[in-house]
Amino acid sequence: MPASPSELPVWRELSTHRVESAVTSMRELFDRNPRRGAELSVECDGVVLDYSKNVITDRTLSLLMRLARDCDLAAGIDAMFAGARINTTEDRPVLHTALRTPASESVLLDGVDVVRSVHEVLERMSDLADAIRSGRWCGATGRPVRTVVNIGIGGSDLGPAMAYHALREFAHATVEARFISNVDGHDIDRVLGDLDPETTLFIVSSKTFTTIETLTNARTARRWLVDRLGENAVGKHFVAVSTNAREVAVFGIDPANMFEFWDWVGGRYSLPSAIGLSLMIVIGPEQFRELLAGAHSIDRHFRTAAFEENLPVLLGLLGIWHRNFCGAQAFAVLPYDQRLALLPAYLQQLDMESNGKSVDRHGRAIGVDTAPILWGAPGTNGQHAFFQMLHQGTTLVPSDFIGVLEPTHAHRAHHDLLMANLFAQTRALAFGDLGSPGEGPPHRSFPGDRPSNTILLPRLSPYTLGQLIALYEHKVFVQGWIWGVNSFDQWGVELGKKLATSIHDDLESDRAPGLDSSTNALIMRYRHARQSVTAGRPTATTNEMI
Ligand code: F6P
Repeated sequence: MPASPSELPVWRELSTHRVESAVTSMRELFDRNPRRGAELSVECDGVVLDYSKNVITDRTLSLLMRLARDCDLAAGIDAMFAGARINTTEDRPVLHTALRTPASESVLLDGVDVVRSVHEVLERMSDLADAIRSGRWCGATGRPVRTVVNIGIGGSDLGPAMAYHALREFAHATVEARFISNVDGHDIDRVLGDLDPETTLFIVSSKTFTTIETLTNARTARRWLVDRLGENAVGKHFVAVSTNAREVAVFGIDPANMFEFWDWVGGRYSLPSAIGLSLMIVIGPEQFRELLAGAHSIDRHFRTAAFEENLPVLLGLLGIWHRNFCGAQAFAVLPYDQRLALLPAYLQQLDMESNGKSVDRHGRAIGVDTAPILWGAPGTNGQHAFFQMLHQGTTLVPSDFIGVLEPTHAHRAHHDLLMANLFAQTRALAFGDLGSPGEGPPHRSFPGDRPSNTILLPRLSPYTLGQLIALYEHKVFVQGWIWGVNSFDQWGVELGKKLATSIHDDLESDRAPGLDSSTNALIMRYRHARQSVTAGRPTATTNEMI
C-alpha cells in the first residue's frame, strides 16, 4: 500500500475527473437519464438507498469502485470478519460483528469460538431481563424493579440511550430506562430526583471500568442508595457491564452480577454487546435479538454483495467523493423521525472517534482529509433552524436523509406531511429553484447541486434499527480502510483526560497553578467562586479578585 491513498493513480484520476465534471449539474444528469432515480437506488433486505441526488456520473462511480479495489477493500473486510488484529495500535482484533452472529455459526479467535461466549452472555442477560420484566428480580425491600439506570459515557451510553429513545414503543409497560452519562452533577440530580431507590436497578456500564466520569457517577449513585436502603442493598440494586472483572470487584459489585464483553469490541461498536443490557431489559430479549438479527443481515450484505450493490460501500465511497474531491468539510445526518433524534449524536462518536485521525495504520501522515464534521437533527425541526445554510450557505454539506415508510401512530396527515417535507428538501437541495432559475432577485436564488442520499426504512423496529447501525458502522469502516487509518483506536481523547486529572488537583490546591496565563486565571476565578460558595458568600468574579 502507498503511504497515502493520494499516491494511487486512481486518486489522481478522481481529482482530474472532479475538475472536468464540476460543471455538470444535477438537473443535467436527471434530464439526460430519466431512469436515474431508479438506476441509482439499491435495496437490501427492505432498506432502500437512493443515491441519485449526488453530482456523480457512471465514470465517477467506476473510478470510486476502482479506488475501493486498489485499496484492497475486500481484503480489509475479510480481515475484519476473520478476526485479524486490524486494531494495530492496541494489538486487537475487531469483531463487533461476532456479537450478532447466530449461535449456529462460529468465529474462531486464536482457536476459540467467540460466538459461544457471546451467546452465553446473551443468555445471562436474557435471564436477568426476564427476571426483572416478570417481577421475579426484587430489590432489597422485596419490590420489583421499575427503573433501570444505565451509568456510562461515550460508547457505554450513546448506543443504549439512542436505541431506547428510538424503540420506546417496544418498552415494557412498567419498566423504564434512564441514562446518566455526564459528570456534571446536574445530570445525576435530574435522573435521581424523583426515583424510588427500592425499585431502581443501576447498571454501571464501562468497558474499562476506569472512566472517571462513570466511576464518579456510580459512586454517587451508590451513596444515594446506601443512604436510603443501607449497605446490604447494593447487591440487589447494582450490576455491571465491563471487560474488567477486577475493577468491578474493587468497586464492590459482585462478579456474579457482572456481564462481560471483550476487548475486541470497541466502545462505539458495543451496543449489541452487554452494553445493551438496559435496552434489553426494557424491550425484552426477543426484541433485542431482533436488533442483532437486523445488524447481522447488513453484516452479511457488506461481506458478500458486489461493491456496486453494497450499501455501506456506496455510502462510504460517496462520502470520500464529497470529502476528498469536492471539498466538503461537514456531513449532516437528518432523520425524518423524532424517534431517531439521538442518532446524529450516536453517529458523531461512531464516525468522528473512528476516523478523526491524521496518521495512518503505520504511523505516517495520511496526507488527505479524513472524517468530516458530522452533525444533524431530526426533520422537520432542522428545516426551521439550520437548513437555510444547507440551501444557500457557502459551505457544502452533503447529507443523509432518513425516512420511515410506516409510522406506528395513527396521524396519517402528520406522516404525509413529514415525508412530503423530506422529499421536498432533497429535491430543493438537488435542483434549486426549478421554476425560473436565475430570474428572481439574488436572495431568492437557490443554486441546487447540493448532494444528498435518501435512506428509507420500511418501519422503525429493533430489526431495522440494527440494520441502520450496521450500515453506518460499515460505512465508517470503508472510509477508514481507504484513508488507511486505524478506525478502532481513540488516542486523541487521552491527552484531555490526563490534563483534566492534573487540573483537578490544581482546583483544590492553595498553590498558584503553573500553567499558561489563560488557564491560570480561569482556575483562580473558579477557586474564588468555589470558596465563596463554600462560605455561603455571593460569588465574586472581578479581575481584581484573581
Ligand atoms: O472517550 C473515550 C472513550 O474511551 C470512548 O471510546 C468510550 O466509548 C468511552 O470513553 C467510555 O469508555 P468506557 O466504556 O471504558 O467507560
